[in-house]
Amino acid sequence: MELNRTLVDEKKTPMLRVEELSVSYGQIHALEKVSIEVYPHEIVVLIGANGAGKTTLLSSILGVKAPTSGNVFFEGKKIDRVPVDRNVREGICLVPEGRGVFASMSVLDNLLLGAHHNLVNKDKNLARVYEWFPILKKRKDQVAKTLSGGERQMLAIARALMSAPKLIMVDEPSIGLAPIIVNDIFDILVMLNKEGYTVLLSEQNAFKALKCAHRGYVLETGTIALSGTSSLLLNDPGVKAAYLGA
Ligand SMILES: Nc1ncnc2c1ncn2[C@@H]1O[C@H](COP(=O)(O)OP(=O)(O)O)[C@@H](O)[C@H]1O
Ligand SMILES: [Mg+2]
Repeated sequence: MELNRTLVDEKKTPMLRVEELSVSYGQIHALEKVSIEVYPHEIVVLIGANGAGKTTLLSSILGVKAPTSGNVFFEGKKIDRVPVDRNVREGICLVPEGRGVFASMSVLDNLLLGAHHNLVNKDKNLARVYEWFPILKKRKDQVAKTLSGGERQMLAIARALMSAPKLIMVDEPSIGLAPIIVNDIFDILVMLNKEGYTVLLSEQNAFKALKCAHRGYVLETGTIALSGTSSLLLNDPGVKAAYLGA
């Protein structure tokens, strides 16, 4: 799916601004003064190897993990120290690493779990999700463990959409999926972006992620090593050597 690249040049107020964020687990400094920005209608990718701090960054933005220092702003409001629930209500959602789908619950019940922050619009959001993911409508009464890996990832994304977010954060969506299915998942993220959603995703699969994103940040052992447009990163010799197998 072709991306609308003109959006990259739009310099608006960032939807999300992470400012010099540091996060520790006891003695382990997982993030050290990380700063990133995500503008409305962008797809931004965080590229990083295992242990680089991708999950820590996304969970700190959502409010799951409190930072030791630094700030996070969402639509201009300071949100570090704000509980997850409130951040979800304000329009942030996270599709967790490993999908986090409830295996023994039906597809529909998994989706309804995602709606509990936005019950008023439940039916409207469900209808829209079924329109975007017809396979989930077809499988709505099946238990989630009977879905394929790709369908489970779709369910995890669809469940996040049930809270009617503005910013969708997706943690390593391609993990454990066959390459052809990975393409489908990235196509879905591009489609959602065209529908108006802003996307922040983390990936080790740098090539495909950069092909689908407007901009990226390279996270190396808890710090931002490099950032720029996707084409800049795809052509960077260091990125090529470390992440693109060139
Ligand atoms: N719950 C935890 N307790 C202690 N250390 C952790 C915990 N979660 C992550 N870490 C450490 O923080 C660093 C960043 O991890 P993580 O954010 O999971 O990276 P990534 O998602 O890029 O693989 C790693 O050194 C990891 O071992
Ligand atoms: Mg991770």
